Amino acid sequence: MCGIFAYTGDRRAAGILIDGLRVLEYRGYDSAGIYTAGSPLAVRAVGTVRNVAEKVGGRLIGTSGIAHTRWATHGGPSEKNAHPHTDCSKKIWMVHNGIIENYKELRTRLALHGHVFASETDSEVLVHLIEEHMRALGNDFEQAVRTSLKEVTGTYGLAFMHADNPGVVMTARMGSPIVIGIGKGEYFVASDPTPILHHTKDVVYLNDGEFAVISKEGYSISTLDNALIERIPSTIEWDIDDVKKGGFEHFMLKETIEEPEVILNAIRGRLVVDEGLARLGGLREVADQLADIKRLVIVGCGSAYYAGVVGKYMLEEYAGIPAEVEVGSELRYRKMLFDKETAVLAISQSGETADTLAAIKEAQRKGVMTLGIVNAVGSTIARETDAGVYNHAGPEMGVASTKAFLSQLCVLALLTLFLGRQRGMSAVMGKRIAEEMLLLPGKVEVILNAREKIRAIAHKYGHARDFLYIGRKYNAPIAYEGALKLKEVSYIHAEGYGAGEMKHGPLAMIDEAFPTLAIAPKDSVYEKMISNMEEIRARKGRVIALATEGDMNIKEHADDVIYMPKTLEMLSPVLSVVPLQLFAYYVAVMRGFNVDRPRNLAKSVTVE
Ligand code: G6P
Repeated sequence: MCGIFAYTGDRRAAGILIDGLRVLEYRGYDSAGIYTAGSPLAVRAVGTVRNVAEKVGGRLIGTSGIAHTRWATHGGPSEKNAHPHTDCSKKIWMVHNGIIENYKELRTRLALHGHVFASETDSEVLVHLIEEHMRALGNDFEQAVRTSLKEVTGTYGLAFMHADNPGVVMTARMGSPIVIGIGKGEYFVASDPTPILHHTKDVVYLNDGEFAVISKEGYSISTLDNALIERIPSTIEWDIDDVKKGGFEHFMLKETIEEPEVILNAIRGRLVVDEGLARLGGLREVADQLADIKRLVIVGCGSAYYAGVVGKYMLEEYAGIPAEVEVGSELRYRKMLFDKETAVLAISQSGETADTLAAIKEAQRKGVMTLGIVNAVGSTIARETDAGVYNHAGPEMGVASTKAFLSQLCVLALLTLFLGRQRGMSAVMGKRIAEEMLLLPGKVEVILNAREKIRAIAHKYGHARDFLYIGRKYNAPIAYEGALKLKEVSYIHAEGYGAGEMKHGPLAMIDEAFPTLAIAPKDSVYEKMISNMEEIRARKGRVIALATEGDMNIKEHADDVIYMPKTLEMLSPVLSVVPLQLFAYYVAVMRGFNVDRPRNLAKSVTVE
């Protein structure tokens, strides 16, 4: 969703804020804006951060400021709806990530008191509310902010400044992430650690209901009722190079190419091959409890949900644990029939997805153990869950998930090994899985090295208006994920289907202009896949097959073939998703789209 960034120190703020917004742009890119101390107004522009940078030129000299890159919720993308927002006196400035749910009633009330609104946003009510409280509180800005925040409902990650108090930035959090970066004589506030990495690795994360006042002399964290909170800073483990494109045209390609290393990072130190065991430090404390778990409910959104479906198949087949997978937005409002023998597992790259988080919190209210597979260290889901496993995939900047998805599959395989060996899985089977996992990086490398061929196929079919993706068993969720990738970055209508379901609907759409990507490795459902491919070809549909190296037979049943190395059936999604990511990438590039910033989407969905 939106990204916020703030700075206070001795350096000129404008350049620092613009650079920070550029890094955060993957969170939202409808419009952007900045306010720096000493300036009478904010600079705002529709479109990318570059438009704001051009407007700013060299004219802002203040050494503190706040900035925002927007993903519109209430009010379309326009200059007047862009942040920072200000009150009637034009002294209070604020950037907001989240949704103020009771903004309508507040707006009506404030309008009756004479406040004039300049935007259609929910956010703007807050600055007017603060202005109103300041009048009643003898101009005490800090107290007015605290009082106002108690009146709003919804979610927020906020940064405020007052023109009469330059050098002081206030920030608060409820449901939307806030990180404070600790430099030498300078401080930063951001929606995630990525823009802070350019300046310092020392950070403090705010929790919900917390408020902080920051100046170049230091910072203090408190509750809205002013009870002081002590928090030990933590260190960001990512490197600055991770958030740069490093010579690649797009993050999406860079992050796909990184996948062999991402697998290594996910499994490093976690496999005891000879004993066929997975050692997961983050689960050590709950290991005994996990041994008694009879049911696992997996929750995630977008690609994380599809990773969860693969995980369900792995866990059921190899660990014997019944598993269900739910999207966060559904699970959070459903009746949760959980008992003490159920655990809920959240999968999230960002660790901030609002619906996944809400589902986890609801499960906790029911007294159920919660686990996380999270990439962003220190993120909310990582902190809220009782235990978990980090992906260590490094920051993912492309909006459409690639390497994080692959990493989620690997961690789910580790979890299957871990839970499976607690139950009936033999050491021999455990060893086989572990050995195969060690070979995955090299096998992904083989696929990546053949990417020119995938590009050629993408160019051959990339003009189609619709696509079908089919797979069975472990590769049915990969068909869904492949279709999602294509939709996200190339805006082509694509549907993912379990191949057996074709006859119950999708087959009706097939003709020569509607190609199908069929994931057909040599596995237990290979023959079934071949039959489904033939059903498509009998309707003049063209088929691109993903097949196992050496499978010559498949050429009889497909128009084009992309080969991938052989692996265990349960691990085949780790390989089969890679060509689909590359295919979507090359189609989108061919069609001239900005693959890293697909229209209407944002990387981190921190609102409902
Ligand atoms: C957004 C992203 C997807 C991602 C989903 C879940 O929609 O564009 O790539 O899969 O959110 O995000 P999470 O951070 O929870 O994995």
